[in-house]
Amino acid sequence: MSEKDNMNHNELENEVEKVDDKDVVVEDQKKDDDEYEKVCFICHRPESQTGKMMDLPNHISVCPDCMQKSFDMMSGGQMDYSQLLNMPGVQMFSVDDLENVIPKKQKIKKKKEGEERKPILDIKDIPAPHKIKAKLDDFVVGQEYAKKAMSVAVYNHYKRVATDTMDDIEIEKSNMLMIGPTGCGKTYLVKTLAKLLDVPLAITDATSLTEAGYIGDDIESVVSKLLAAADNDVEKAEQGIIFIDEIDKIAKKKNTSQRDVSGESVQQGMLKLLEGSEVEVPVGANSKNAMVPLTTVNTKNILFICGGAFPDLDNIIKERLTKQATIGFNAELKDKYDHDKNILSKVTIEDLRAFGMIPEFIGRLPIIFTLQGLDEDLLVKILKEPKNAILKQYQKLLALDEVKLEFEDDALRAIAEKAVKKNTGARALRAIIEEFMLDIMYEIPKDDSIGEVVITRSYIEGTGGPVIMLRGQELPQLEG
Ligand SMILES: Nc1ncnc2c1ncn2[C@@H]1O[C@H](COP(=O)(O)OP(=O)(O)OP(=O)(O)O)[C@@H](O)[C@H]1O
Ligand SMILES: [Mg+2]
Repeated sequence: MSEKDNMNHNELENEVEKVDDKDVVVEDQKKDDDEYEKVCFICHRPESQTGKMMDLPNHISVCPDCMQKSFDMMSGGQMDYSQLLNMPGVQMFSVDDLENVIPKKQKIKKKKEGEERKPILDIKDIPAPHKIKAKLDDFVVGQEYAKKAMSVAVYNHYKRVATDTMDDIEIEKSNMLMIGPTGCGKTYLVKTLAKLLDVPLAITDATSLTEAGYIGDDIESVVSKLLAAADNDVEKAEQGIIFIDEIDKIAKKKNTSQRDVSGESVQQGMLKLLEGSEVEVPVGANSKNAMVPLTTVNTKNILFICGGAFPDLDNIIKERLTKQATIGFNAELKDKYDHDKNILSKVTIEDLRAFGMIPEFIGRLPIIFTLQGLDEDLLVKILKEPKNAILKQYQKLLALDEVKLEFEDDALRAIAEKAVKKNTGARALRAIIEEFMLDIMYEIPKDDSIGEVVITRSYIEGTGGPVIMLRGQELPQLEG
């Protein structure tokens, strides 16, 4: 084999001489490449599967199997390959063309050898639930129950990951299902959590998923997204979090005679992922095909969080509660539920089944909790309290122009009132503020003498203007 290898080297050596001036670039790349596994140029399998690769110049590696096959074909065939180059129209291909044919995003990170790999979150390192919640409090306003449930679930999950060897008592995975109206902070909560824990997070939409073989993303693509978020480091990905948003959109379709490829089938396909199994995922792509290398990821320790707004779920709950009420003697309770704002928190597994989720699916999400809709008070808090509150962002922007920006409390209330009417949760806040801040952001930099701007309720309601004060003229009662 090595003789043949040499032969090949000689053939290519002429080409390599031409590339001499590129040496510096190549060196740099080499350093970078060390972290990634080699991938066979022909069959695209990683080195961990094929065994030691043959290195050709320009970062081309070929696995022993493919090398052997090529030689077998050459020696077994009828053709005289030595004459190939003399034939009209045949040129020696340029090695330069082959460079970087396999992009880095399709390669898998090597397992680090020698150094002992310790878990990302050591059991002693996992902060206690109350500490996780305290951190969440800095960013997320309200949603006390959701934050508490989440902190405990995450704490238990990573405790389970860290204590890998289980005796008879195996701790089950704490996958979660979050239910809450739009704009109440579901996605935001998960994003914040992943940032705090410093674990890879993949956020995907259930809407694009379909059963394998149909147009759309395969279910396994959620795992390959996580792999990408973990820089193709399989071990890191295996401890990450996958957030599947809009989970209500894969409810069973009602009254269809066709195959439900994006509803019930997706739920079924997801079952084995949720529970923990080895899945073959494409590296650096959403779907499997011949050109993409595959790798195996175990989802046993991946935390799945599903979230959705579940529109109309409240009606299902109401119907159930009303039925119970009319059977008993307290029929007058009936319209009490119509005005109950937190009706969602009374959700049960039967309600979710009535909505169209299959029992096996819900069963694999043992922790179910709801988020409340945001009311005026919470919206005001969201405006000013979180670490990166919207008001703070604008204040900082204007501070760069050495202008102080203040909001009267009454103005904040007016913004919140407007936002509640829009019924899109905290998302409405940004749109409203953006609207009236446009004029201010446009006018202020024009005039150097302006020192402070105070936003009032009448300005928000469009009946007046902001209070503008020139430098050195600040009124004492408006300070602070
Ligand atoms: N409780 C909250 N505390 C602080 N900010 C919040 C809160 N809820 C929402 N926000 C803000 O509103 C934005 C939108 O919220 P988010 O994306 O979490 O909505 P969602 O619940 O996922 O809605 P949807 O169901 O439409 O996806 C966030 O980026 C965040 O800035
Ligand atoms: Mg969302």
